[in-house]
Amino acid sequence: IVDVKGGPNEGLDRVGLMIVVAGWVRTLRAQSSVTFIEVNDGSCLSNMQCVMTSDAEGYDQVKSGLITTGASIWIQGNVVPSQGSKQKVELKVNKIVLVGKSDPSYPIQKKRVSREFLRTKAHLRPRTNTFGAVARVRNALAYATHKFFQENGFIWISSPIITASDCEGAGEQFCVTTLIPSSREAAESPVDAIPKTKDGLIDWSQDFFEKPAFLTVSGQLNAETYATALSNVYTFGPTFRAENSNTSRHLAEFWMIEPELAFADLKDDMACATAYLQYVVRYILDNCKEDMDFFNTWIEKGIIDRLSTVAERDFVQLSYTDAIELLIKAKKKFEFLVKWGCDLQSEHERYLTEEAFGGCPVIVSDYPKEIKAFYMRQNDDGRTVAAMDMLVPRIGELIGGSQREERLEYLEGRLDELKLNRDSYWWYLDLRHYGSVPHAGFGLGFERLVQFATGVENIRDAIPFPRTPGSVEF
Ligand code: 4AD
Ligand code: MG
Repeated sequence: IVDVKGGPNEGLDRVGLMIVVAGWVRTLRAQSSVTFIEVNDGSCLSNMQCVMTSDAEGYDQVKSGLITTGASIWIQGNVVPSQGSKQKVELKVNKIVLVGKSDPSYPIQKKRVSREFLRTKAHLRPRTNTFGAVARVRNALAYATHKFFQENGFIWISSPIITASDCEGAGEQFCVTTLIPSSREAAESPVDAIPKTKDGLIDWSQDFFEKPAFLTVSGQLNAETYATALSNVYTFGPTFRAENSNTSRHLAEFWMIEPELAFADLKDDMACATAYLQYVVRYILDNCKEDMDFFNTWIEKGIIDRLSTVAERDFVQLSYTDAIELLIKAKKKFEFLVKWGCDLQSEHERYLTEEAFGGCPVIVSDYPKEIKAFYMRQNDDGRTVAAMDMLVPRIGELIGGSQREERLEYLEGRLDELKLNRDSYWWYLDLRHYGSVPHAGFGLGFERLVQFATGVENIRDAIPFPRTPGSVEF
């Protein structure tokens, strides 16, 4: 088997070789003396055009209509220069083998189908051009993420998925309980086998963890423990939010990249976020050309230019206070009122990056402490914290980060103010007892990055199996 790297758009140097292609039929066109079969194996966007005449072994299966769109096949043939304009080489078929036939009800036919429809076919949508391309670019972004951090001396940490703490303090956690083994079989539904008290509440004393356990909303607190031992670290894993937001940028399960830098302040954090984003954007522009051209033509016109600019230009930086002033002066009718102290809504974020700064990413820093999490470092003004959000066109908030409060007395004071129980954070406070250091980090929502990098409008199309309120099929 010869690897025709880059697919049929490259491969002229392979002319004359005999190769085997194993993949799925995209289209089949039978003419009087020749049949054209387009096959795709997912390694690249283009299909391999296979040209077949009646002398090929297995031709009877084509003739009898057994091989249809969606079928899996195995084809052996010679690479020859193509007469067509769509590809440089094609395959002159010697032999075709039907591996798995496809029922005529196959829903992914050549005609364009809506992305809403394809969400109901999440098990078959990777066979379309769009979802194949999104999957490959998502993979490249993940690879580039590890490459960036590894090349810069960061150590990858696996943060736990099951946790007792609520990092963001927003109470948006999914609860984890166990089923009682003795009642598993008797129970009609798993819900009946959850240990319960007389009042119908979950009986934690009988539960596996013996106290409430949750799916993590962020690996940050765990990453901080390793950053205060190994210096620069990062996590890259799934996180969960039980927020009931049905928007095009919220998922209940999403992947987050969370670097944590020791001996670092907010400026270092912003510099790292900028360098990271520019690196991964440059990586896909250089390494995913065919897929990026596809997005540029079919998903978002001009995305390549937009990303090229992002990879090169300096990002805008301004304080929350200046951002609020700018929004008030904008004289634009926002749905949500703008005044100092309010949380920026996505309409405000998008105005800043899309209109005020012409499509440039914007980093907003030093937010009021009331709207940010307990762990952020208090600024000397007593009313803001050393936080930063990176906003990008079309998405709004792509990154949220901060310098962490490394001073024990301030952190304890903040926990008390927010009526959070110091005892639950004993290990987090310990980090401030023993060799505390200034440190900072950020979290980037991986699916929002995939949206930004591919142009897909809805976050449900940026992850293979989206989890949103009311949806856990597949
Ligand atoms: O701003 P967030 O909530 O910050 C944190 O979780 C910090 N602990 C991160 C850190 O400093 N280590 O979330 C970070 C990012 C957001 O900017 C957004 O891109 C993404 O995670 N995000 C979501 N993505 C998809 N669906 C959701 N429901 C998301 N919530 C946050
Ligand atoms: Mg945030």
